[in-house]
Amino acid sequence: MKSLVLAGGSGTRLRPITHTSAKQLVPVGNKPVLFYGLEAIAAAGITDVGIVVGDTAAEVEEAVGDGSRFGIKVTYIRQEAPLGLAHAVLIARDFLGDDDFLMYLGDNFIVGGVTSVVREFQADRPDARVLLTRVPDPSRFGVAELDADGRVVRLEEKPAHPKSELALVGVYLFTSAIHDAVREIKPSGRGELEITDAIQWLIDRRLDVRTTTITGYWKDTGDVEDMLEANRTVLEGLTPDVLGTVDDASQIVGRVRVEEGAVVRGSRIVGPVVVGAGTVVTDSYIGPFTSVSDNCRIHDSEIEFSIVLSDASITGVHRLEASLIGRTVQVTPAPRVRSAHRLVLGDYSKVQIAS
Ligand code: G1P
Repeated sequence: MKSLVLAGGSGTRLRPITHTSAKQLVPVGNKPVLFYGLEAIAAAGITDVGIVVGDTAAEVEEAVGDGSRFGIKVTYIRQEAPLGLAHAVLIARDFLGDDDFLMYLGDNFIVGGVTSVVREFQADRPDARVLLTRVPDPSRFGVAELDADGRVVRLEEKPAHPKSELALVGVYLFTSAIHDAVREIKPSGRGELEITDAIQWLIDRRLDVRTTTITGYWKDTGDVEDMLEANRTVLEGLTPDVLGTVDDASQIVGRVRVEEGAVVRGSRIVGPVVVGAGTVVTDSYIGPFTSVSDNCRIHDSEIEFSIVLSDASITGVHRLEASLIGRTVQVTPAPRVRSAHRLVLGDYSKVQIAS
């Protein structure tokens, strides 16, 4: 069995971060989202992995390399334009051959891995198996309609009026039957070859498409809120440790991880928080659910429930919340602008002026 991981796309909802970097490489808990997926694939015993890359190919290749550090062997497949998930399957045909495969969207974050669903698929080998989960906002996703016996009858991509609250999770198991489907379907309204339409094509031809409804935590890390939520979930399971230096004037409360080479001086850190290697925190407060990446500088500032990417510096800012700060960003207070008020006041006036 092989795996096809999708790490292309333009990440429009995470702009401006994704103007300069791949959305799959934005870290949660100081580790790129994509790495959690690759680890889950390796844990399921799949070693032959094709990664579909787009405009951010160079960056993804640099981060993942040949895959050996995950215990997998990676083949990169170039998608010239983001023409859809089914298009990715179409162009990966040479890599996939006639093998069964696990398709994994590189921006999806699933707690609990994929091992059990891979085993389930290997045991019963339907033509396809899709993962579903209940969501409060199904119209943001592909949505499944099931019949009374729990069999999937219809899949719709981002419907305005969803027939159920069951969203398609970005993990799919396929036999080679999917290749006929991706060749036959036509582009959707958004101009993409949708994997949802390809699976519907299988259903319409009475092929065996089964579902597994997962109840564990799942996020499609499409926008900043999703990233912050995924980050929060990862930090809840953080192993606390102080590998760097924390001075006596600092206070560390709760689940906090200070990586090697990090320095904390005169600061209060209330976990769960991770402070990346080489980062220096001085005279600051870092509050719960914050991941600060490597080599950052945080001075005379307050920040919580945020993600700070590597080499960023935050100075004199009170205070930051629910923020995603990109690499090498500098945040400083605006210089005070002296504003003049021109007043013509009668005798005995009382005036309050915000200054
Ligand atoms: C894709 C699929 C959608 C699925 C979602 C899960 O949407 O088309 O059916 O629910 O991934 O992350 P996209 O993120 O490409 O808009």
